[in-house]
Amino acid sequence: MNQLLKIEHIVKYYGNRSSLTKAIDDMSFDVNKGEFIAIMGASGSGKTTLLNCISTIDRVTSGIIELDGTNITDLKGAALAKFRCEQLGFIFQDFNLLDTLNAYDNIALALQIQNVSPATINERVGKMAEKLNIIDVLQKYPYQMSGGQKQRVACARALITNPKLVLADEPTGALDSKSSAMLLESLNDLNYQLQATILMVTHDAFSASYANRVIFIKDGKLFDEIRKGDDDRKKFFNKIIDVVSLLGGDLNHVI
Ligand SMILES: Nc1ncnc2c1ncn2[C@@H]1O[C@H](COP(=O)(O)OP(=O)(O)OP(=O)(O)O)[C@@H](O)[C@H]1O
Ligand SMILES: [Mg+2]
Repeated sequence: MNQLLKIEHIVKYYGNRSSLTKAIDDMSFDVNKGEFIAIMGASGSGKTTLLNCISTIDRVTSGIIELDGTNITDLKGAALAKFRCEQLGFIFQDFNLLDTLNAYDNIALALQIQNVSPATINERVGKMAEKLNIIDVLQKYPYQMSGGQKQRVACARALITNPKLVLADEPTGALDSKSSAMLLESLNDLNYQLQATILMVTHDAFSASYANRVIFIKDGKLFDEIRKGDDDRKKFFNKIIDVVSLLGGDLNHVI
């Protein structure tokens, strides 16, 4: 497998001299193409900060983040916008769907911006909707959909451009267990079928057990990482729980 993402000694401070928070404290790890990674850690451990630095929403204080050999911490202006639009897919916890567009148009928007032909858009949205089981809601507006449907539409929107890297911050945070399982199965399928590389922040071990690797962070530092290898999901889940209990803190109460 070849490398997609390289995180090298990144540090992120927030605030100023009088009130300084070290949100990320010298973190390094690599991600190969086609990996599905879960990032776990207590509240305030730096998970969202890490994702925001990789997505270029936020800037690292020092260190290097390379995607496919390009140092993205150096990107500016048009190159930065192009990078975000073409290489990344985001799935936010609050979905971020546009209320004035139906599901179809929400999903199609990024392709329309890239001037893809309507016939191709139609075909790609149809295929993605089939995979995510949302064909029935394509004509609905966000206020007419359930939370799980909105989340799957948000997922389709993030994946429709075939991004190199999909970043998801607590994608199942607002979902019941059935919708969570459906979304995670879909991510799993997309990871497998399209070789989409996924980085997913999650509080819960059940969601994390769908990944191939779990990275645990504590106080802005890498604490541990475990790989699924040949384990089935149940066995991997139990291993995740073991590390979570070692991690301690407020991660336990949500499991
Ligand atoms: N914009 C900001 N200004 C100042 N401090 C910040 C800012 N954003 C985050 N922090 C601090 O950085 C640390 C890491 O925050 P982060 O949001 O990355 O945590 P998290 O692991 O995502 O937590 P949660 O599980 O609660 O979402 C926290 O101490 C937080 O208070
Ligand atoms: Mg967070």
